[in-house]
Amino acid sequence: MNFLCGTPPITVACPSPEGHFFAFLIPASRYPVVTGFTTDYTVMHTLCSLHDLPEGSTKGFDLDGTPVFAVHLAGKVHVYRNHCPHLGIPLEWVPDQFLDVTGTLIQCASHGALFLIESGRCVAGPCTGQSLKKLLSEVVDGEVRIAL
Ligand code: FES
Repeated sequence: MNFLCGTPPITVACPSPEGHFFAFLIPASRYPVVTGFTTDYTVMHTLCSLHDLPEGSTKGFDLDGTPVFAVHLAGKVHVYRNHCPHLGIPLEWVPDQFLDVTGTLIQCASHGALFLIESGRCVAGPCTGQSLKKLLSEVVDGEVRIAL
């Protein structure tokens, strides 16, 4: 175990099981060098190859009965549940087509609700102010991965 020398003590806050936080001071001579720290135990699953989701495209998927879709725009991939907040039905009428004519907003084909691609927030239509459910996603080694 490595120890830092000549650095000031640090304060560490830890949550208790009851939701309270405890803070304590650790002298510099006693704390280890921490190079990585995470509390995220989310398991990521491969959705598709990025090759199958080219820039500017959208694609729908059925994950064991749960419909989702992915949007690849401006170098970023966003994945949402395919479930319009207006009536709780899938957004698309034509397979793999989730964007409006401008290609800048997600559109529900049923009543025309428009959603921001970055956040899924509805900015026009019968569910204005509501949002699509966004899934945690990442692109690693040419694969789009999501948390289920
Ligand atoms: S079902 Fe999507 S806008 Fe009505």
